[in-house]
Amino acid sequence: MVHKPLGLLAELTHRCPLGCPYCSNPLALDARGDELDTATWVRVFGEAAGLGVLQVHLSGGEPGARRDLVDITAGAHAAGLYTNLITSAVGITDKTLGALAEAGLDHVQISIQDSDAASADRIAGYDGAFARKRALAAEVVRHKLPLTVNAVMHRANIDRIGDMVDLALALGAGRVEIAHVQYYGWAIENRAALMPSREQVERATAAVEDLRARHHGRIVIDAVVPDYYARYPKPCVGGWGRRSLNVTPAGKVLPCHAAESIPGLEFWNVREHALADIWANSPAFNAFRGTAWMKEPCASCPRRELDFGGCRCQAFALTGDAAATDPVCHLAPAHARVAELAARRSDAPYVYRRMHAAREASTPAL
Ligand code: SF4
Ligand code: FES
Repeated sequence: MVHKPLGLLAELTHRCPLGCPYCSNPLALDARGDELDTATWVRVFGEAAGLGVLQVHLSGGEPGARRDLVDITAGAHAAGLYTNLITSAVGITDKTLGALAEAGLDHVQISIQDSDAASADRIAGYDGAFARKRALAAEVVRHKLPLTVNAVMHRANIDRIGDMVDLALALGAGRVEIAHVQYYGWAIENRAALMPSREQVERATAAVEDLRARHHGRIVIDAVVPDYYARYPKPCVGGWGRRSLNVTPAGKVLPCHAAESIPGLEFWNVREHALADIWANSPAFNAFRGTAWMKEPCASCPRRELDFGGCRCQAFALTGDAAATDPVCHLAPAHARVAELAARRSDAPYVYRRMHAAREASTPAL
C-alpha cells in the first residue's frame, strides 16, 4: 500500500555561509545555476498539497541565500501548507523576517552550534554566527512566531546540554530539538572528530531526563539516543517512501536527504514529472517501500513495521548493501562494526562543508 506523504523537505539551495562539519547535504553540492526557479517551487507546493502533504520545511543550505525566499514562502502558504523555515540565521535580515511573517510563515527553527559563543563559531566555521543567531531569535519572538532551537550534539558540545536548554529558554523558544549527529555525507568525513564517548552519551541521556522534569511546561525538549549507541535503529524518515519526500535544489525528488549516497537508484525530477507520479512510480521511491525487499533478520522480525529495518543510507554506508539490516540494530549481522567505529575518535581538525571542498572530500572506506 502506498501511503500519503505528510511532510516535504524543500532544499531551496545548497549555498550556505556556514561550514558545519556534520551538514546533512551531500558531498556533491548543487550549484546556484542549477537551482529551481520560484515558479517551479510554487507549482511543486501546489502538487504536494494535492498529494496530501501538510507541512513544508524550507531548508537548504541556508534558505536565506535565495533572494525569492519571501515569494517562495508566500507560494507555500497559498497552497495551504504549514510553513517551517529551517535557518542558520546568517542571511536572514530583520526586514526579510518581517516580510516572511507577512507572507504567512508559520514557524522558525534556528540551528545553534553551542551555548558558548567561541565554540559555536568554531563549529560553524563562521566568526560572529552565534551573535547573529541570538539577534534573529529575538526578532522571531518579537514577530510572535513560534521558535524551535535545533541543537546538534557531538563530542565538542554534548557536555553542555543543560546550557543549551537554558539558552533556548532565554531566547524564548517553545521547543528545543536535541539532535545527535547522524553519520552521513559530511559527518562521515568528520566521524572520528565528532564521535562522543559512551560516558558522554550516558551523562547526556541522564541530563535530558533531569532537564525535562525541571522545565516541564516551559519548553518541550525533543531528544533521541544517538544512533551508534542505540539498541534498535530509528525508523528513518518514518519509513522509505511512506511519510515524506525531499526535493533537492536542482529538483530531484528523494525519499530522504541522503538517498543520493546509495548508488544505482534512479531519481526523477520535478522538471519532468508531476510530484504524484514521482511519489507513486519513481524507481527510487519503490526501491525500499514496504517490507518485501527486506533480508533476515528484518524479514521475520516483529519490529519490521515499527522501524522498517532502520536507515537504508546507513546500511549502505556501513555494509555496502542498502538492503542490509541497519548495523545500529543489535540483531544486525554487521552490528560489531558500529561499536568499532564508535570507539574510533580523533582530535583531527574538522573538514568544513564548503562548496569548493565538495570536490576534494573523499568517500571514506567502509
Ligand atoms: Fe528493526 Fe530489522 Fe533490527 Fe528487527 S532486525 S529490530 S526490523 S532493524
Ligand atoms: Fe536515507 Fe535514513 S537517511 S534512509
